Amino acid sequence: MVAGKFKLQIRMNRVEGKTAIITGGGSGIGGASSELLAAEGANVVVTDIRGEAAQKTCDTIQQRGGSAISMQQDVTNQDRWGEVVSETLSAFGALDVLVNNAGISGASSVPLEETELDAWQGVMSINLDSVFLGCREAIKAMKGSGGSIINVSSVMGMVGGAPAAYNASKGGVRLLTKSIAVYCGTYGYDIRCNSVHPGYIWTPLVRNAIEFVDEIETEDDLMQMLVEKHPIGRLGTPDDIAKGVLFLASDDSAFMTGSELVIDGGYTAI
Ligand SMILES: NC(=O)c1ccc[n+]([C@@H]2O[C@H](COP(=O)([O-])OP(=O)(O)OC[C@H]3O[C@@H](n4cnc5c(N)ncnc54)[C@H](O)[C@@H]3O)[C@@H](O)[C@H]2O)c1
Repeated sequence: MVAGKFKLQIRMNRVEGKTAIITGGGSGIGGASSELLAAEGANVVVTDIRGEAAQKTCDTIQQRGGSAISMQQDVTNQDRWGEVVSETLSAFGALDVLVNNAGISGASSVPLEETELDAWQGVMSINLDSVFLGCREAIKAMKGSGGSIINVSSVMGMVGGAPAAYNASKGGVRLLTKSIAVYCGTYGYDIRCNSVHPGYIWTPLVRNAIEFVDEIETEDDLMQMLVEKHPIGRLGTPDDIAKGVLFLASDDSAFMTGSELVIDGGYTAI
């Protein structure tokens, strides 16, 4: 290499040979993360409560020559977690990366004062309990060999402004992540655990919230309202977040654990 000049390297192998489980991989951020990790050499296990959606992502990866299998999984079911990890170990021999991505918005037209406990607990179960279950199962599988756990939180895990249960669940994911990072370090497990905090990404989770936003009638109006909250002047794409997931999954982030990777177009800078 000539001194003072960088050699341009096209890298397509940042997670070569690693095996990754991605929950909620049938859509949006989970779908893009599954595709990018596979393109960078990982064996990908795509799971989703909608088994056919997970299979569709898997088909896309395989058509591009990548390595993937799909599994139907409701992330709130603890027995299913055991099966998903054990089937992953049978298929690929190891688990190196877990992306706890599945989630719901909890958007509702019911005001906070009238929200039923069941509705609150439903959001907590999918957005937070599931992350505990996934981390618990992944630690069992990774503690001898090491690994990287990536928990998809949100800017709404850092600031208020969403339905209360969503805010609380994503704040919980943020600190659960740090707790797990410290726990694994304390016990000498070579397992890193980091959270990702996306700004608004134009996925079904956001688009479907339109019916609950007063004074917004069209998707264009909703998008415009949200764009104005992002100094960068646009919403994020699933690929914007997938690139952060790839970084945390790869050894490029080897010195990161218990960290918050904020990918938000400046949302939290205001
Ligand atoms: N879209 C955004 O603006 C945004 C911003 C910040 C954080 N996030 C977070 O990113 C993650 C992915 O969101 P997205 O925007 O890609 O949404 P999405 O709706 O496009 O995808 C979510 C996927 O999760 C699956 N899912 C839902 N409940 C499940 C369950 N119980 N078990 C298994 N799978 C289940 C759905 O079937 C769907 O395929 C979520 O955790 C979300 O909170 C999204």
